[in-house]
Amino acid sequence: MRKTIVALALTACVALSANAQDKPITTAPPMGWMSWFPFIDKIDEKKIMEVADAMVKSGLRDAGYKLLQLDDGWMAAKRDKEARQYADTSRFPHGMKYLADYLHARGLKIGIYSSNGMQTCAGYPGSYNHEELDANTYAAWGIDYLKYDACGEKEKHTDRELHTRMSKALKATGRPIMFEICIFSSGQTHLWGAEIADMWRTGGDIVKFIDKNPEVTYKNWYENLNQVVGKENYAGNGHWNDPDNLIVDYPRNNKQTYDEQKAQFSLWSIVSAPLTLGNDVRNMSAQTKAILMNKEIIAVDQDKAGKPGTRVLADEQKEIWIKPLNDGTKAVVIFNKENTNAMLTLNLKAIGIAGKTMVRDLWEHAGKGTFTNTYTAKVAPHGVIMIKLTELK
Ligand code: GLA
Repeated sequence: MRKTIVALALTACVALSANAQDKPITTAPPMGWMSWFPFIDKIDEKKIMEVADAMVKSGLRDAGYKLLQLDDGWMAAKRDKEARQYADTSRFPHGMKYLADYLHARGLKIGIYSSNGMQTCAGYPGSYNHEELDANTYAAWGIDYLKYDACGEKEKHTDRELHTRMSKALKATGRPIMFEICIFSSGQTHLWGAEIADMWRTGGDIVKFIDKNPEVTYKNWYENLNQVVGKENYAGNGHWNDPDNLIVDYPRNNKQTYDEQKAQFSLWSIVSAPLTLGNDVRNMSAQTKAILMNKEIIAVDQDKAGKPGTRVLADEQKEIWIKPLNDGTKAVVIFNKENTNAMLTLNLKAIGIAGKTMVRDLWEHAGKGTFTNTYTAKVAPHGVIMIKLTELK
C-alpha cells in the first residue's frame, strides 16, 4: 500500500461539477475539509462523524466550511457482486448513505473520491468502465461532490476523455454533484476544466509522500501557489483553480511558523482557491482557529464577483497580489519572501490608485488610516500583510 500511495501521489488529481456546462453549482469557491492529510487512507465512520461534530462545535461550519470530503480509502478492496463500489464494511459498518444522512442532518455536505482508471491512487477499485454505475450509486447515497483522480490502468483512453465520461454520468443522475478534476501531470487541465468540472487541481500534491512524514514548510504551499500563476483567468463564475488543500496546522512534522500559515490562508483567498482544510479539526489551537475563521479573509475568498486575484509584482524581496472585489474595493496581499522581518512598500500608483485610499488591515481587523502614493508596513519572514483598499473619490 505504501508503495502504491507514493507512486500514485506523483501522478494526478481533478474535481468536476456535473452541471458545469450549464448553471454552475457553486457561486463561490467551495469550503470544507478533506481526509487525506489527517488520516491518509485510514478513514472510518467514527472518525468522519467526530470530524463532522467538531466542524459544528468549533464554529467551522458556520464560518462556511460545509463540505466534508472522504478521500481515497473509503471503499472496500473489491466491487460487490453487482459490480458496485461500496464502503469498506469493517470501517463503515452502516454504509455511506447513513454517513451522508448524518452529515446532511448537521447542515454539512459529503464529498467522495474515485479515479478514472481501474485503481485509485492508493490501490482501491477505480471507476474505469463503471462510470454510470458509480455516478448512480453516489447519487443514491446523497453524495454532493466527487474528486476524480487519474490513477490506474485505462487502456488507451485519455484522462480528458474519461473525466468527460464521468462528468456526463454525474449530470445524467439529475443530482447536483460538484465535480473536481484531479489531473495535474500535464499542468494544462485549466484549459478545458470548466467545460466539464467545477474545479480542477492546478498542480501536484502540496505534501508529497505523506506516509513518510516529510517536513512541511512554507515552500510546500509556495510551490503550489506558483502553479496558479497564468491560470487565473480560467477560473471564476463557478469554476475554480485548486492549488490543493490548506496546510495550516498540518498534522505531521509541521515546520511552518504562525506567520507562514497566515500567509497561505491569505494567498489561497486572494486567488479564489477552494478553502479545504487539511488538519485534524478535532484538536485545534486558538491560533489555528484564528487563522481558519478570519471572517474578513474568508469574505475575500468568497467575494461575489468571483474574480481570482493576480500577482502584479514579484521581485527578490516581495510579491504583491491583488483581487478586485465586488464592492469596488481591492484586496491586496504583500508577501515577504525573505527570512527576516522587512519593511515593505506598496506603490499605490503602480496598482492604479492615483488619489487617496483608505487602508484596512484584515489580520488586525483595524483601519490603518488614509494614504496617498505608498503604504509601508513591517512584514514577518515569509509572512504577509493583507489589506483592503477603498479609494476616496
Ligand atoms: C492523489 C491526489 C491526492 C490524494 C491521493 C489519494 O495523489 O492528488 O490529493 O487524493 O491521490 O490516493
